[in-house]
Amino acid sequence: GPQVARLVASRVLDVPDFPRPGVLFKDLMPLFADGAVFREVIDGIVAYHGRESFDVVVGIEARGFVVAAAIAYATGVGVVPVRKAGKLPRPAYSASYALEYGEATLEVHEDAFTAGHRVLVVDDVLATGGTAEATLGLVERAGGTVAGFTVLLELAFLGARERLAPRPVHALLTV
Ligand code: PRP
Ligand code: MG
Repeated sequence: GPQVARLVASRVLDVPDFPRPGVLFKDLMPLFADGAVFREVIDGIVAYHGRESFDVVVGIEARGFVVAAAIAYATGVGVVPVRKAGKLPRPAYSASYALEYGEATLEVHEDAFTAGHRVLVVDDVLATGGTAEATLGLVERAGGTVAGFTVLLELAFLGARERLAPRPVHALLTV
């Protein structure tokens, strides 16, 4: 609710011109570094979805790993990493998406999910939605059922929510 949104707002730093001129980088490291706030945020995500609503959690490399591992530990489910290209050792599905300049690729192991497992996907920031769109597609290709998608911070002006529709997007804080 609004209390968790305020906590997120209090622990995000705006960094101008990173990683490129003209980009305002949203740095959530202060949130991760504050134990009490991090716990509130993780508990808020679990409470929103309900701990019985998913069987496994997917974290998107790299900052999504921090969130995913904490949710998994708090709820007793496992973590499946969605990784940047070339990191996974066994056969994997790949999905490429456009960046401002060029292209990026994410991958997941073909056998990552038990058929029908309900998958909660998490990341730190939702910007253009390219990362999320690629990841949700990978989960479905690998046989998972997307049970939810949550980010700590959504940048609404970039339109990711519309891009991902009709899939639901949950953000602790939308700016
Ligand atoms: C950032 C962020 C999200 C993604 C959001 O990750 O952590 O994963 O960008 O952007 P989008 O909605 O426009 O796709 P980044 O690719 O910088 O990598 P990192 O998590 O490894 O730092
Ligand atoms: Mg990321």
